[in-house]
Amino acid sequence: MPQVFRPRANALAWTVLIIAAALLVVAVCLAAHYFSSPYYSGVDRTPPQPVPFSHKHHVGELGLDCRYCHTSVEDSSFAGVPESEVCMTCHSQLWTNARLLAPVRDSLKNDRPLRWQRVHDLPDYVHFDHSAHVNHGVPCQACHGRVDEMPLTTQKKTLFMQFCLDCHRNPAPHLRPPDAVFEIGWQPAGVPSEARQRYGERLMARYHTPTTERLTDCSLCHQ
Ligand code: HEC
Ligand code: HEC
Ligand code: HEC
Ligand code: HEC
Ligand code: HEC
Repeated sequence: MPQVFRPRANALAWTVLIIAAALLVVAVCLAAHYFSSPYYSGVDRTPPQPVPFSHKHHVGELGLDCRYCHTSVEDSSFAGVPESEVCMTCHSQLWTNARLLAPVRDSLKNDRPLRWQRVHDLPDYVHFDHSAHVNHGVPCQACHGRVDEMPLTTQKKTLFMQFCLDCHRNPAPHLRPPDAVFEIGWQPAGVPSEARQRYGERLMARYHTPTTERLTDCSLCHQ
């Protein structure tokens, strides 16, 4: 084969190629790191809060129901975050001087709501409604994970379109009877895992769950 470049040029071409290949590897690694990180997916994102509120303590250990604090979750698109008065029903008697709770007391005294940081936040062009889910057998846990084990509230699912569609294509294995929607860790008693799908399909009939076609229609979530 005839030599295309002079030896000097050849060495230079090889050096450029090797540097380019190395840069490509670095770029791919950075991209992989970014797309698997909380910055991109939101998963494991734990924003700092004005008061280190613990669901592990209040739900896991004290056994409080979600609706005690998220009062609008059954009636509106928003679950809502509790006002300081709700905390003070207990903390006017318990831990009354705790420094951790000073922002709650101040908020009440100055009539200024606490500024809780959002953990989950969909883009504005997506329509989402809590009541439509929790009144039709979709449990909090399917979208928020085991809050009863969280010392600080953490996002556990990506909330990407694919996440919504995975369930909308086959909601059956996630569905629960009405009284089990708010319970974390619930399993249908006496239903072996291979019968979970059929159990869920019976619930779909009871809830009149819309068809797959309807649940995957773009206009359902993008109006
Ligand atoms: C004693 C009151 C209380 C109870 C009971 C409670 N929560 Fe909360 N929850 C809060 C407060 C306060 C916040 C805001 C601070 C935070 O994000 O940790 C919050 C935040 C959340 C968030 C994150 C909201 C966001 O910004 O995206 C989720 C999800 C949540 N709660 C789910 C639940 C579920 C599910 C239950 C029942 C199993 C429950 N909570 C019970 C008080 C409560
Ligand atoms: C039904 C009663 C009740 C309500 C309502 C309640 N708490 Fe508590 N909270 C407790 C009890 C009981 C403890 C102490 C538990 C212990 O130390 O064993 C506690 C502890 C705490 C602590 C101390 C540290 C820790 O480990 O969690 C913080 C902070 C706190 N609560 C914040 C809040 C906030 C903020 C709200 C309102 C969103 C709230 N609580 C509502 C009962 C309640
Ligand atoms: C089908 C999925 C799904 C279910 C089921 C669900 N949530 Fe959510 N939740 C979300 C999404 C998505 C957001 C973010 C909404 C946004 O940004 O507009 C959210 C936000 C929240 C927030 C922040 C405040 C708000 O209302 O936007 C709280 C609190 C909350 N959820 C509590 C609950 C509780 C309690 C339950 C069960 C009773 C529950 N969620 C069931 C998906 C779900
Ligand atoms: C674990 C299962 C599950 C997940 C996850 C889920 N959904 Fe749903 N969704 C359902 C079911 C079941 C229904 C039908 C409820 C009924 O019976 O009407 C529904 C209904 C809806 C509706 C129609 C009700 C209405 O408000 O008009 C919208 C919109 C919707 N979901 C948006 C979303 C979005 C956006 C996400 C992702 C952030 C999501 N859903 C995640 C199960 C799920
Ligand atoms: C069950 C709810 C749901 C349905 C049905 C749905 N989407 Fe989405 N879509 C979402 C959510 C949630 C996001 C936000 C994703 C994110 O944050 O990355 C989204 C984002 C998008 C985006 C923005 C770009 C992207 O992918 O992040 C486009 C474009 C889009 N959807 C198109 C469609 C089309 C076309 C259809 C019908 C074939 C459709 N969607 C059906 C929930 C839905």
